[in-house]
Amino acid sequence: MAQITTGPRAIFSAPWVYDLAQNLVGANRSRARLVRDHLRLRPGMRLLDLGCGTAAMLHHLPRDVAYVGVDLSESYIESARREFGARGEFHCGDIARTAPDVFGTFDVVVANGLLHHLDDGPVRNMLRVARTVLRAGGHLVTIDPCFDPGQSRLARLVITHDRGRNVRTLAGYAELAREMFTTVEPRLRDDMLRIPYTHAVLECRP
Ligand SMILES: C[S@@+](CC[C@H](N)C(=O)[O-])C[C@H]1O[C@@H](n2cnc3c(N)ncnc32)[C@H](O)[C@@H]1O
Repeated sequence: MAQITTGPRAIFSAPWVYDLAQNLVGANRSRARLVRDHLRLRPGMRLLDLGCGTAAMLHHLPRDVAYVGVDLSESYIESARREFGARGEFHCGDIARTAPDVFGTFDVVVANGLLHHLDDGPVRNMLRVARTVLRAGGHLVTIDPCFDPGQSRLARLVITHDRGRNVRTLAGYAELAREMFTTVEPRLRDDMLRIPYTHAVLECRP
């Protein structure tokens, strides 16, 4: 099981509980910084959001960027459709299995908090999907919690209790991405959330 969905953490399956918990720790700030520092969007671009959750990323995107979101959770996708309607396209699907050509082509693919929910095999499929749908000059951006010898004990403790069962080191994420992408720029960030936390951000180009 790559993601814990039973016990006390089952409550996060409800979209409003998930959004509330995310907002309390500063996930909106994290999404805004991800857009500002890593997505490099320009008017008219097409963006694919893998593991989009309730599509909260849309709050931070310019309106002239076309958005397609995919998530495993039907309730998250229903919530996204209710909230954003025609502002984007929302698909329920397992990105670890989805055929690469079903969503069209994109300038930017983003996976915010997805890789640490997936075992290595499904990560490889997700990376293959991203590489296949990217247009010339496009890039993939991933961001996930990570373990690092330099992080605080509190950050490590919080990350250890994440629902995702595949938290890796920065090098661990980058090594997988390099199997599929020629250029991978890894970066550690501890300034994304309001709580002690360490993120691994990868910018990947075919
Ligand atoms: C930490 S949440 C991040 C959600 C969203 N990106 C955000 O910024 O709020 C991880 C998301 O990945 C989704 N997910 C996990 N495994 C998946 C898979 N195999 N295919 C598609 N989505 C998946 C979960 O349903 C969840 O919504």
